[in-house]
Amino acid sequence: MTETMRALISGRGPEWVLADARIPEPGPGQVLIRNRAAATNNADLPMLAEADPGSGGHGHEFVAGYEYAGEIAAVGPGAGDWKVGDLVMGTFLSSFADYLIVDHRFVLSRPEHLSPEVACALPTALLTEIGALRVAGFGPGQSVLITGATTGIGMIGIQIAKAIGASRVLATTRDAAKADLLTGLGADAVIVVGEDDLTEAVLVATDGKGADVVLDHVAGETFAKCLPATAEDGHVVNIGRLAGPASAIDLDALSYRHLTVHGVSFGFSRDWETVPILESLSAEVLPAVARGEIRPVIDSAVDVADFQEAADRLRSGRAVGKFVLRFD
Ligand SMILES: NC(=O)c1ccc[n+]([C@@H]2O[C@H](COP(=O)([O-])OP(=O)(O)OC[C@H]3O[C@@H](n4cnc5c(N)ncnc54)[C@H](OP(=O)(O)O)[C@@H]3O)[C@@H](O)[C@H]2O)c1
Repeated sequence: MTETMRALISGRGPEWVLADARIPEPGPGQVLIRNRAAATNNADLPMLAEADPGSGGHGHEFVAGYEYAGEIAAVGPGAGDWKVGDLVMGTFLSSFADYLIVDHRFVLSRPEHLSPEVACALPTALLTEIGALRVAGFGPGQSVLITGATTGIGMIGIQIAKAIGASRVLATTRDAAKADLLTGLGADAVIVVGEDDLTEAVLVATDGKGADVVLDHVAGETFAKCLPATAEDGHVVNIGRLAGPASAIDLDALSYRHLTVHGVSFGFSRDWETVPILESLSAEVLPAVARGEIRPVIDSAVDVADFQEAADRLRSGRAVGKFVLRFD
């Protein structure tokens, strides 16, 4: 094994910098992953900007990225049953590099037929969407409304909800041209925000009852519109705040419908919360991934040397699905 690896570093300026870094060694409870591909997430650019010392950022250097797929390259003491060569994928910090160290409890098995390029685009979405459904107490036969459904994670949310028994999945986008994409992924109805009234459209699609569970990736006015579109005793889970963190809500809708509102952010430091979700994901969702029922939408894939294309594409707002960086 060579001693250095390629890594995309944040904290040196407004863009990632491709540099050589030492290959880390796994400590107790950790595994070393030989990374083959890593996917981008919406949060990558804000993290890059927050670290930029040239525009008031904190200036602490770190290896960017938090989704990967590859195989186990080394196993530290007490790192579970993982063996060198096991095919893996997962969500963990510092994934934009040839190698990364991961807490063994956060590693997911990669189904054999899934190439790293496809697999790396799944773990964050799988964790977040199944986690949100579990927080909401979702059960088979319930209906689910997914706002911002064309987000990388929302498109996986549609497929998970269908795979684990949702009666109906309603999906929103601002772009009518993406409706076919969403129905192709399993959405039973697509609501085009800006053309349709979100609340009205959901009530019509659910015979006036409202959705049992809402997975909201948008916040802002969309979040407010979801509350009167949620069934009595229903659950609304805020996952993302693409339209901004503030929302003026009608508390009558909340109280008279006896709703429960949750906020989720599945961070790596909250292992007591995240590890059980990953365990249930492995048991209940990975089989559907292995059967090909859940697949990511990939916008583009390039070699890591062309990383600037990924940043530019993310900034353009025109990407549909994940941008993948290859580390082969
Ligand atoms: N809670 C957690 O643990 C967790 C984990 C991962 C991600 N997140 C959050 O989830 C959100 C989605 O992340 P992602 O990486 O999947 O996103 P993404 O793939 O980058 O999402 C892109 C899509 O977002 C929609 N969008 C963008 N700005 C919008 C706006 N102002 N209003 C409505 N829709 C907008 C657009 O869809 P249309 O053009 O079709 O409308 C766009 O195609 C982000 O806010 C992210 O921070 C949370």
